Amino acid sequence: MNYPEKIREQAEAILVRYPEGRERSALLPLLHLVQSHDGYVSDAGIAFCAEVLDITKAQVQAVSTFYTMYKREPAGDWLVSVCTNTLCQAKGGQKVFDALSDELDVAHNETTPDGKITLEHAECLAACDYAPVVTVNYEFFDEYGEDKAVELVRELKDGRRPIPTRGAPLCTLRELSVQLAGFDEERTAGLEGNAQGDATLAGARLAAEAGITAPAGEPDAPLLAKEPEEAK
Ligand code: FES
Repeated sequence: MNYPEKIREQAEAILVRYPEGRERSALLPLLHLVQSHDGYVSDAGIAFCAEVLDITKAQVQAVSTFYTMYKREPAGDWLVSVCTNTLCQAKGGQKVFDALSDELDVAHNETTPDGKITLEHAECLAACDYAPVVTVNYEFFDEYGEDKAVELVRELKDGRRPIPTRGAPLCTLRELSVQLAGFDEERTAGLEGNAQGDATLAGARLAAEAGITAPAGEPDAPLLAKEPEEAK
């Protein structure tokens, strides 16, 4: 496997984070590492992870195909995900997807011929209070109907990096994979970001106004509740 020395050094740095005998738990960051180099989890990446962890390629493949964040086909710099789950669907999620599919001339899980943009349907993106939701490399663009979503991908096609509604500034899928492998991203812009959305904070604000607080935790309490005496 022809990976550069830097990738091999980073793989070693990942392995030493795990206790002896538990190194195979490093498979998830290792898959992000090879994705950061190849732009997807290639067959070479599968073989590299198997070699590093001394497990079979079938075991690596089984994990890589379970999680949707690992791409098994070459993906674009920009992964555009359109939520078509219940609430977003009720607010036009499918229309957003269809508009982007027309604009980019690609279907679900396909990438534009220039290799820049991959489009996918997504299940609930955990931002139902901002439906319909689009993400680019998992950063949120809240309440993006058809027109705003089409403008968004036009900006990406033009080489610009639109500012997400919340969270960190956009980085490419490869740059993101470096972060997910557990390494600092070199761009300082990756550390900046917008504040949380007001809808997310509304519940906390109402609770504060009503004087409602969470019960105090017991820091030393065991993780599992004790069995009641009578149940023994
Ligand atoms: S249904 Fe779209 S974010 Fe939850």
